[in-house]
Amino acid sequence: MTEQNRVAIVTGAARGIGAATAIRLAADGYAVAVIDLEESAGKDTVEKITAAGGKALAVGADVSNAEQVAAAVDRVVAELGAPTILVNNAGVLRDNLLFKMSESDWDTVMNVHLKGAFLMSKACQKHMVDAGYGRIVNLSSSSALGNRGQANYSAAKAGLQGFTKTLAKELGKFGVTANAVAPGFIATDMTAATAERVGMGFEEFKAAAASMIPVNRVGVPDDIAHTVSFLVSEGAGFVSGQVIYVAGGPLD
Ligand SMILES: NC(=O)c1ccc[n+]([C@@H]2O[C@H](COP(=O)([O-])OP(=O)(O)OC[C@H]3O[C@@H](n4cnc5c(N)ncnc54)[C@H](O)[C@@H]3O)[C@@H](O)[C@H]2O)c1
Repeated sequence: MTEQNRVAIVTGAARGIGAATAIRLAADGYAVAVIDLEESAGKDTVEKITAAGGKALAVGADVSNAEQVAAAVDRVVAELGAPTILVNNAGVLRDNLLFKMSESDWDTVMNVHLKGAFLMSKACQKHMVDAGYGRIVNLSSSSALGNRGQANYSAAKAGLQGFTKTLAKELGKFGVTANAVAPGFIATDMTAATAERVGMGFEEFKAAAASMIPVNRVGVPDDIAHTVSFLVSEGAGFVSGQVIYVAGGPLD
């Protein structure tokens, strides 16, 4: 089997890093399922892929809902084929200092990032094991190392690293690798919302971030898509259980 007949799922692929990753994997030759909360939200990514001659399907699902995940994966199997590549990218922020963080801010972040990756991986691993081949990439973050105002998010993103390493150990013998990509600052709607929350213009916020980054710029979604493309490639079969920080430099 080659990239030409493999099926990839990217969650949270309506915009940002997920959209860039879906578009890149389609250009690499995979048929791509674009999963996001609403099917309609994924249409734009699908149109970009099909306009470039690729194959894609928009599917609406909340990755933190087991029934919706099962239905989404079943639909991908029926309409594109069995998925052997999964990118767990869907994410949300509910930033606040610990003393102001609500229980629901905690639960929402845990549910989307951690439970979402668990449910999606569980639903897809069967198809990977059956195929004797699979690639799972989980989106962690530099915030896994600790970040003020992100007790929930940093815990979830650090949790995803442990989850990734465990999947690598459990699934390796079936030809399945699992790796995590941990982006630093990437310019997306998510970081634009953070700029707004702290009362800064996005350009000013990006410039301040870039001044702290060794390569002297903030990241763009394609920086992450490129790394994911490598990790899901057939040639990366001996790379597993790794966390790759894609942050324009080393992190303390
Ligand atoms: N932007 C950054 O600087 C940065 C840095 C490190 C890690 N990340 C991680 O990368 C991933 C993508 O980030 P982004 O900046 O592109 O974010 P984004 O907010 O632009 O896009 C996230 C997408 O996920 C979707 N989504 C949210 N909850 C969902 C759910 N329950 N089910 C399905 N889809 C859902 C949203 O609708 C949206 O389309 C996230 O996991 C994020 O935590 C981003």
